[in-house]
Amino acid sequence: MTVQISPSILNSDFARLADEVASVSRAADWVHVDVMDNHFVPNLTLGLPVVEALMRASDLPLDCHLMIEDPDRWAPAYAEAGARSVTFHIEAATAPIRLARTLRAGGVRAGMALRPATPIEPYEDLLPELDMVLIMSVEPGFGGQRFLDSVLPKVRRTREAIKRHGGQIWLQMDGGVSADTIERCAEAGADVFVAGSAVYGAQDRDKAVRELRALAEQATSKATMKGTHP
Ligand code: DX5
Ligand code: ZN
Repeated sequence: MTVQISPSILNSDFARLADEVASVSRAADWVHVDVMDNHFVPNLTLGLPVVEALMRASDLPLDCHLMIEDPDRWAPAYAEAGARSVTFHIEAATAPIRLARTLRAGGVRAGMALRPATPIEPYEDLLPELDMVLIMSVEPGFGGQRFLDSVLPKVRRTREAIKRHGGQIWLQMDGGVSADTIERCAEAGADVFVAGSAVYGAQDRDKAVRELRALAEQATSKATMKGTHP
């Protein structure tokens, strides 16, 4: 399992997005782009035109997290725009298998996101259709919220389910991930970490990314050695 860090630009300066993305480009693996439609979540951020512009401005691949209604209709356009990973919310999808297949056919990684209170068990059979599961550790909609420890048992169960299905699927956590919480996420089995305020609130963003990565890597190897890693 390789640790990856995907800084979220949600709390960056939207008037200077290209520079904000460049500020993490030496250390990060991805740029996490939060698309919100003011319906699925009570906040409105950015959409396809901005993602297209970011595509041209970013050296890093885009990891698009769609917090929108009707992803069946809108998500494929993010794949066509050039995002490398597109994640839809299972609570909003009508035909998630068809959607995941459409995304993959478009050459992108298909991700399925779960709100904090959405269980993984009803969706386990979808795992072979997916490249990533995103578990939200805050209610989606805003950056800077407090991490919900109550999702950690679900992270552990999801990692176990992924193992049963062959272990190739990435497990991303998003919401309140910071130097204080990332080790718990890694111990529970997450391997891709979204961090918004923990990175964009830091003076040196690349340094913040490197520190998060080091903490996650240490926690992963410690838990593996102790045999407590799921
Ligand atoms: C919240 C977004 C997150 C957010 C994370 O709905 O999906 O990606 O930017 O921000 P922090 O890390 O500050 O919780
Ligand atoms: Zn997000």
